[in-house]
Amino acid sequence: MSRLITLNMYMTLDGFGEFPEYPGSEIEEDEPSDFWKELWISRYDSVDTIIFGRRSYEGHAQVHALSKRKLTDPKHLYDYSRFLERCKLIVFSNTLQEATWGNTRIMKGDLTDQVEKLKKEPGKDIIAEGGPSLAHDFITRGLVDEYRIFVMPVIYGKGPHYWGTMPKQETLELMDVKKMPHGEMIIRYRSLR
Ligand SMILES: NC(=O)c1ccc[n+]([C@@H]2O[C@H](COP(=O)([O-])OP(=O)(O)OC[C@H]3O[C@@H](n4cnc5c(N)ncnc54)[C@H](OP(=O)(O)O)[C@@H]3O)[C@@H](O)[C@H]2O)c1
Repeated sequence: MSRLITLNMYMTLDGFGEFPEYPGSEIEEDEPSDFWKELWISRYDSVDTIIFGRRSYEGHAQVHALSKRKLTDPKHLYDYSRFLERCKLIVFSNTLQEATWGNTRIMKGDLTDQVEKLKKEPGKDIIAEGGPSLAHDFITRGLVDEYRIFVMPVIYGKGPHYWGTMPKQETLELMDVKKMPHGEMIIRYRSLR
C-alpha cells in the first residue's frame, strides 16, 4: 500500500493560516491537548517523514529543534522535538541552498512529480505540515489523502489562505470531529478517490 499523506491545517474559521488570540488561547498546557494528540502524538509510530514549505521549516527549526528546547518546556514538547529529529524532513524551496537541522532533504521542481516519487520510496506514512502556501498547493493538486484540521473560533479576514480554486471537486468522508475546551474543533476527513 502507498504511503498515506496527511495534511495538518491550523486555521481560523474563514480559512486563514494564522494564530490569533481568542478567549482561552493564551493558556499554556503542561499536558498535551487533544489537538496535539490528534495531530502529532497519535502519529509517532506510523509516520517517518514530514514535509514543510521553506518558511514553515525555518520556523520549526528555530522553535522545535531539540537544541532550542527550554528547561521549562513540558515533556510532550521534548518528545515532539525528538520525533522530528528521528524523521526525514523534506523542505520544498527554490531558494534554500543548505539545511542544517536534522535529517533534511531540500526538494524543488514540480510538486506533484516530487510527491509521487516520495510516495514510492520505502518508508512509513507522511505528514505535510504546511505552511499555508505549500498546503494550498497540496490541496489544489489533489495530493492529500487525509486532512487533520484544527479550526479556531475566529473570523479573521486576513493572512495566508489555505483554500484555493480547484480544477475539480474533491469529495471527502468525515472521519471524526472533536470539540475543544475553548471553542476550537479538530476535524478529520479522508479524500474519496
Ligand atoms: N504549519 C505551519 O508552519 C503554519 C501553520 C499555520 C500558519 N503558519 C504561518 O504561515 C506563515 C508562513 O506562510 P507560508 O505559507 O509562506 O509558508 P510555507 O508554505 O512554509 O513557505 C513558503 C515557501 O515555501 C516554498 N514553497 C511553497 N510551495 C512550494 C512549491 N509548491 N514548490 C516549491 N517550493 C514551495 C517557497 O520557498 P522559496 O521562496 O524558498 O522558493 C515559498 O516561498 C507564517 O507566518 C506562519 O506563522 C504556519
